[in-house]
Amino acid sequence: MPGQRDPGRGCRDRGTAVPLISAAAPRAINRAAELVKAGRLVAFPTETVYGLGGDATNERAVAEIFAAKGRPRFNPLIVHVRGLAEAERLAVFDDHARRVASRFWPGPLSLVLPRRGDSGLSLLASAGLDTVAVRAPAHEIAQALLRETGRPIAAPSANRSGRISPTEATHVFEEIGDRIDLILDGGRTPVGLESTVLDLSDETPVLLRPGTVTSEQLTELLGPIAAPAEDRPKSPGMLASHYAPSLPLRLEAVSAQFGEALLAFGPEAPPGFAEVQWLTSTGDLAEAAANLFAMLRRLDRPLFTGIAVMPIPEQGLGRAINDRLRRAATRPL
Ligand code: TXA
Ligand code: MG
Repeated sequence: MPGQRDPGRGCRDRGTAVPLISAAAPRAINRAAELVKAGRLVAFPTETVYGLGGDATNERAVAEIFAAKGRPRFNPLIVHVRGLAEAERLAVFDDHARRVASRFWPGPLSLVLPRRGDSGLSLLASAGLDTVAVRAPAHEIAQALLRETGRPIAAPSANRSGRISPTEATHVFEEIGDRIDLILDGGRTPVGLESTVLDLSDETPVLLRPGTVTSEQLTELLGPIAAPAEDRPKSPGMLASHYAPSLPLRLEAVSAQFGEALLAFGPEAPPGFAEVQWLTSTGDLAEAAANLFAMLRRLDRPLFTGIAVMPIPEQGLGRAINDRLRRAATRPL
């Protein structure tokens, strides 16, 4: 029956038409906001990747997010807000935190901070931790949705857990289109990599996930920043294997192996690959980041034996690109 819940798996038997609409359509944002307020799930674009959003104060909506993604419940979600004032109602900001937020928000930076006792947030959203990750996205559609909803929105990337993050609405549809109520199509997401995650809940800031806001920029503002401890990932989502395509991924490739497709970086590519997609022909790291996930998806076809990637400089945004590539190249245990 359409709309009926499957209590066992927390999914919906939709039985209805494709839930993908243009964000520019009349009342699209309003419809999405009504759904979120009713505890339903909506995918929407941010400047980084598409998010799978639900009311962060609604325990059941948050549980549905975990179910739709097949995400382990120990992995907390990022809570999206309009800006610093809203974030301060959810988390405890000190001077450091305020300084970073004022400098980089709205934008692709998530801050892990002590969670306020009176935040009203779902406990599951932060997976039972006493911290919460908050972020004010810069994307106009995300901001409009937050404004119309009037509530914090919990939103992980809108892909099945462990898979490549979506940078186009059709990616979301392919991944989880049958599990959610609406996808707001706002075109390609401009940044293309998930936000930088910075943990400010302890004495020394820890960079949990590299992104467009680089460690160089953060160090300039905050002083020394630590890398997460290798043995015990503080960010439960930063597992060694993530963003995984189905095909094997080979990094630092300088020549072709039989049947491989290539992700090329820079003006020239080695010969002999079955297909080549150019992350950037000029070496522009922002362009490469924006193209990375869509191109990985495009090449992830049984037609090829694997995907090779040319070396990418380990500096600035290149660090975030290489971080995602290393995780994508690590096969699940
Ligand atoms: O760009 C982004 O951040 C996108 C868009 C939709 O905003 N969202 C996103 O969410 O990438 P997700 O769930 O795919 O990644 C969130 C990361 C995970 O690695 C998670 O473990 C970490 O943030 N995280 C969330 N809350 C945390 C907390 N309280 N402590 C430590 N890590 C946390
Ligand atoms: Mg994700």
